[in-house]
Amino acid sequence: SDIGKGTYPFYMLKEIDEQPAVMRKLIATYAGENGLMKVDPEIVKAVQESDRLYIIAAGTSYNAGYGSKMMLEALTETPVELGVASEWGYGMPLLSKKPFFIFLSQSGETADSRQVLLKVNELGYPSLTVTNVPGSTLSREATYTMLIGAGPEIAVASTKAYTGQIATLAFLSKAVGESNGLQIAKDFDLVKELSLVAQSIEATLSEKEKIAKIVEKNLLTTRNAFYIGRKMDYFVAMEASLKLKEISYVQCEGFAAGELKHGTISLIEKGTPVLALISDPSVAAHTRGNVMEVVSRGASAIVIAQKGLEQESDDFVVSKVHPWLTAISMVVPTQIFAYETSVQRGLDVDKPRNLAKAVTVE
Ligand code: G6P
Repeated sequence: SDIGKGTYPFYMLKEIDEQPAVMRKLIATYAGENGLMKVDPEIVKAVQESDRLYIIAAGTSYNAGYGSKMMLEALTETPVELGVASEWGYGMPLLSKKPFFIFLSQSGETADSRQVLLKVNELGYPSLTVTNVPGSTLSREATYTMLIGAGPEIAVASTKAYTGQIATLAFLSKAVGESNGLQIAKDFDLVKELSLVAQSIEATLSEKEKIAKIVEKNLLTTRNAFYIGRKMDYFVAMEASLKLKEISYVQCEGFAAGELKHGTISLIEKGTPVLALISDPSVAAHTRGNVMEVVSRGASAIVIAQKGLEQESDDFVVSKVHPWLTAISMVVPTQIFAYETSVQRGLDVDKPRNLAKAVTVE
């Protein structure tokens, strides 16, 4: 595979651009021609036999776990619990009777995640590693593996692995739901929905200039910023803020829009950028209310809304995808926000200070 940068100034931009292709490749890998999912039946069975799914991960992969939780729970009808790998190694919290562990790791080498996997293996529980690197440590040591197949990710800031992880788990979710005879699983046309996701990403990618201008106006000199959202958009806000912090050094918090008023709103000053994500019709009005609250306290609001929910004053519109997949479509503009902020501040986008691509120490 091509691991050169080609004409790209940074790997990160190349990897952002590759995401529609990653979606289509995942369709080719995991969707059978007969309409059935090509997911290892052993994995499906292990999930079916479990009473709780534990997703263990670090960094961006941890956020991808949140981005997958709603869909996993809806389609497997099994509760999903998230664990920060570095914390879970110290002592397992009280586990359910039949836990199934899912390790999300782009590199498959993260030591924090591995220390949990070693304990899981000691306890004899089944596990799945979802990774971008075949033959990686976490892949070899877990019971099962599903590959993202996104191609090498070189930039330290992870982009296509996040979207690829969620899409990979979509195939698992659908396979389990179908195997359980769930009507909502049969109705969830994943091939069609992921194709729409690929198109949505392409539409966003064609509007990078628009984002570059918003960055120039709002994020060039600020020391801090906020991303807010509700439900899935809250999970995306967490990843969006991590991305911005990692490569632009802007201190940014991803916040549940409704929680802002319970303390954090005191940090809003004149000109503080607040980026609001709005993709869910059931909470759009409430998030808009939160935007008004911060604007009345001087914030510069930047609204990123899904098509159909947009208002004239909004800054960016993302084309519509299935509600379980909005973490993928909505994260893409935020990747570009982070990228542009880093570029315009003259920073090394691909190699931010103090960070490593894979951290193999605890
Ligand atoms: C490092 C990287 C992050 C990444 C995290 C988890 O800290 O800098 O970008 O999200 O590790 O990596 P993994 O390979 O396990 O997904």
